[in-house]
Amino acid sequence: MFADAVARLPAQPEPTAVDEYRARQSRLCDQFRSDDLFILCAPHEAIHSNDVHYRFRTSSDLIYLTGWFDPETTLIIRHDNDGWKTCLFVQPKDTLKEIWEGRRLGTEGALASFAVDEAYDIDELETCLQTWFTDSKRIFHRKGFNPNLDALIDEAVARRDRPRQHFGSGPVVVEDPSPLLAELRLRKSESEISQMRYASQVSSLAHELAMRHSRNGVNEGQLQAVIEGFFAYAGASGWAYPSIVGSGENATILHYTVNNSPCRDGEVILIDAGAEFRGYAADITRSWPISGTFSHEQKEIYNLVLKSQEAAIEACQVGAAYTAPHEAARQVLAQGLIDLGISTQSLEEALDMETGDLRKWYMHNTSHWIGLDVHDVGIYKPNGTPRCLEPGMCLTVEPGLYFGAWRPDVSCPERYANLGIRIEDDVLVTKDGPVVLTRECPKTADDLEAIIGTDHR
Ligand code: GLY
Ligand code: MN
Ligand code: MN
Repeated sequence: MFADAVARLPAQPEPTAVDEYRARQSRLCDQFRSDDLFILCAPHEAIHSNDVHYRFRTSSDLIYLTGWFDPETTLIIRHDNDGWKTCLFVQPKDTLKEIWEGRRLGTEGALASFAVDEAYDIDELETCLQTWFTDSKRIFHRKGFNPNLDALIDEAVARRDRPRQHFGSGPVVVEDPSPLLAELRLRKSESEISQMRYASQVSSLAHELAMRHSRNGVNEGQLQAVIEGFFAYAGASGWAYPSIVGSGENATILHYTVNNSPCRDGEVILIDAGAEFRGYAADITRSWPISGTFSHEQKEIYNLVLKSQEAAIEACQVGAAYTAPHEAARQVLAQGLIDLGISTQSLEEALDMETGDLRKWYMHNTSHWIGLDVHDVGIYKPNGTPRCLEPGMCLTVEPGLYFGAWRPDVSCPERYANLGIRIEDDVLVTKDGPVVLTRECPKTADDLEAIIGTDHR
């Protein structure tokens, strides 16, 4: 069923090389002092019900530093006489557990194939830490994920034992390493971009398949199944965030995830869905008419949102503030609302963040960073000033207009009642201008109309 589409995908990119993980670790350690101790633990597996777990997804920081995806893992980076040592604590090999739950790489696997100097069974973590605490002054650790580890570290900082009394040794402060890691992750390497490109290509094709499968009566959940089924078929690990599949008035709910209504001719469906590949996210939204043809009013709004998105993508230039795409989209949308008679305000009034008409119909930002997390890390306003775009940064561009006629807080123009349009692509900033990673996903009204429903013809 999906084979023809998969045949249109390029070969999968090479996985990130061990040397690159080493380089990432070095860039982090360059910011440490030799009496720092860095601790990064993976989240616990979450229970779905009784003895069934949700699909496990480890910490993005752990993926970034090691490429290790398995559960029950803690990464320690410590300094000894020979320099920095990367130590990975992992689930031990255990034949019985492996028979039931799946193969484990164990310490041997960690040492053989990962950027790791030392590997230990996870059961040895506490003993090793107690030794390494003594040589450390500052612990880099993000609290709130592992209460046992938090308590162990707090206890080490509070301890007043003989080594502390005699030699002043032992940790005195705990710092969150997240800002350091976020800064590194903000600029994507060639390898990261190639993983994101693949996630984008899979996601683009998945949207196209859903377009082809659309017709009167199809359920939102069936289109979700096409999209997410294709993610799996194409070798992605699944979705990067829960798919939003909303037709008609459901398209006016920004993060609608119920996805179980029948889609009807006359409605526009909004699908916001992206695959995760080797930990990297794609984030695409397309909006299209279930019947295969936009009505005049739907096309007015569609083309306005598209024009705003094109302006916003063009604004993703090196040296521009990260807010430039948002401002570009807002200008086009506000002018469009005026031209269409939806707003009787002046342009300046329509753009006002408190009282402008644009806020009524466009209530979210245009961009967020994207990478290992769909809403990726990276401080937007360091020191309170919007960050300027640099080569290697990746961000989404996703303007929209949402005319929820069900909303009691606004008076919705009747001719656009319950029309929700968002168009979202993922953009890489380069010195030669913006590169749209999700460019294969059909986008113009003509392209969409040529594709919608073709499964049923
Ligand atoms: N898919 C969530 C977002 O677009 O931010
Ligand atoms: Mn997004
Ligand atoms: Mn999205």
